[in-house]
Amino acid sequence: MLNKRSSIIVPLLLLFIAQYSGPALAAGADPALKAAGKKIYMRECAACHGVEGDGAGPGAYILNPRPRNLQLGVFKLRSTPTGENPTDQDLFKTITRGISSMAGAMMPSFQELPAKDRWALVTYVKAVAGIDKAGKPIDLPTKPRSFDLALGRQVYERLQCAACHGVDGLGDGTSSLTLKDAQKRRIWAPDLSRGQFKGGAMPRDIYTRISTGLDGTPMPAYASKAKPNEIWALSGYVLSLSKKNIND
Ligand code: HEC
Ligand code: HEC
Repeated sequence: MLNKRSSIIVPLLLLFIAQYSGPALAAGADPALKAAGKKIYMRECAACHGVEGDGAGPGAYILNPRPRNLQLGVFKLRSTPTGENPTDQDLFKTITRGISSMAGAMMPSFQELPAKDRWALVTYVKAVAGIDKAGKPIDLPTKPRSFDLALGRQVYERLQCAACHGVDGLGDGTSSLTLKDAQKRRIWAPDLSRGQFKGGAMPRDIYTRISTGLDGTPMPAYASKAKPNEIWALSGYVLSLSKKNIND
């Protein structure tokens, strides 16, 4: 359930967290579920995200990007428009899948925890983040039977994805040399040809990321800048950089 690094950290942390009562929570959530979630959080999450949820757990320093300060209530992996709260399902998916990037796993998958424990964690994370109302997902239009990759390439050029991701998507755009996240920490536009996506590599995951952006990072939301068929073509194009036969 935890990667090697965090399994070293967790036992040390258990001693440490026993003394804390945890962060102040937003009102509104079911108290029993919140209490259950908190217990699981202290065991599974606090090593990285900190007992207060401030992202400053004892294991945080070895991770890049850093574990999220959950108190800020800003989430990258949402099915909801930019600036809005994630849905409960979004948080459930993140906890279930974990988060991996080209640099490897930074947040382990918790799919082995019973679903009811993962839902309790969703309740607890929302309370720490001060979310009392989940966002509403964007419309996901039907996926085309095949992707128009030539159109996707054109849209990639028109929307200037290359400024950050590079002309061929290799993460070597000139802006990528200076990007910072909302906490003013250095961040890089990923090499899209590696096929490693934090929010999943299904076409609908890529469609959603491009449409809603990754809040708290320089990756903008493009929902208002392109038509749905263009965003589908672009999603296919992005996937074609790592998968040769996206249309098969
Ligand atoms: C080994 C360290 C580690 C552990 C353990 C861990 N996380 Fe994370 N988590 C991270 C890192 C690192 C990020 C930031 C990734 C990024 O910004 O790309 C993150 C991000 C998140 C996010 C934000 C996702 C988004 O959409 O932006 C949530 C929610 C989250 N973690 C919840 C949890 C919960 C709940 C647990 C326990 C079940 C947990 N994490 C355990 C390292 C960890
Ligand atoms: C201003 C810079 C910038 C521009 C412009 C930009 N991106 Fe990004 N993009 C980023 C950064 C930075 C990340 C990584 C965020 C993270 O991992 O926390 C990212 C991440 C991504 C991801 C990975 C999502 C995931 O699940 O891991 C995809 C796909 C993506 N961008 C596609 C695009 C496309 C397509 C365009 C053009 C329509 C675009 N980006 C424009 C900076 C940019």
